[in-house]
Amino acid sequence: MTSTHKILQAGPLPPPLASKLPALCPVEILSDKPDPAAFLQRQGNEFTVLVTTGTQGATRGLIDALPNLQAICSLGVGYDAIDMDAVRARGLMLSNTPDVLNDCVADLAMGLLIDAVRGLSASDRHVRRGDWPRVGPTSPSTRVSGKRLGMLGMGRIGQVIARRATGFDMDIRYHTRSPKPQLPWQHEPSLIALAQWCDFLIVACPGSPETFHLVSADVLKALGPQGYLVNISRGTVVDEEALVAALENGELAGAGLDVFEHEPEVPAALIANEHVVLLPHVGSATRETRAAMCGLVLDNIRAFLADGRLVTPVGP
Ligand code: DGY
Repeated sequence: MTSTHKILQAGPLPPPLASKLPALCPVEILSDKPDPAAFLQRQGNEFTVLVTTGTQGATRGLIDALPNLQAICSLGVGYDAIDMDAVRARGLMLSNTPDVLNDCVADLAMGLLIDAVRGLSASDRHVRRGDWPRVGPTSPSTRVSGKRLGMLGMGRIGQVIARRATGFDMDIRYHTRSPKPQLPWQHEPSLIALAQWCDFLIVACPGSPETFHLVSADVLKALGPQGYLVNISRGTVVDEEALVAALENGELAGAGLDVFEHEPEVPAALIANEHVVLLPHVGSATRETRAAMCGLVLDNIRAFLADGRLVTPVGP
């Protein structure tokens, strides 16, 4: 491996990844610097590789401050926090960590759906408050199996979710920009029509300017007062203000959310709502999956340092 390379680590990384970087080539950690801007001005030209995460991302300002940057290796499948215009303009290589997290994110989507619809967390709170002996069990919830599932997004994670939902005897349709005729599920060209048709809508499309607020007040209205929304992709896909309003006005039955528009901030109105299950963006957060994601970042860096290619490049 060539010694001309140097890695800039944008922020904290899981120990199985962070601990292995220094063996590959010299590393500096930007978030550890007392004055990161001054550090970049002084030494920004030393770095050829940026290691970041889906959450930490890479702004245009950071990319501009690294004039010799060649590759960005990101931990996570979503790269919406990376300025793609800057990446394209500079002709940078970019890798993410697809596929290894599909199962765990899909498991979590089903967990959120069942929790929100059957009221598991709400019932757990009921028992812990001591309400069971006092007022009896919680009221009957809604059946999950055999219902109509609408998928917004049918990429790699969406397909794994749909396969799990098949095991629950659900009728499945999906909305994407273009149909995928090889899939066994029906494509619905209109998101509003999909929301009108389904009982549950799961958001599994990537966050991007094109998907910003796709789940609008109108889509939530179409999902209706018996409908449930689950979001395991990016908070930006859902108009969070409209979601709060729909829940408060009884225009939506409930929601299961692993992601938020301004995370880690969660609107107080969602926290106060008994019909919403809230998780701190833990879709891929199992030990096994995180180890696989870290391994994939290392594989990408090693391949880049060895012969200038990436193992899981993000397409143009
Ligand atoms: C991803 O990989 O994009 C996930 O959101 C990280 O948990």
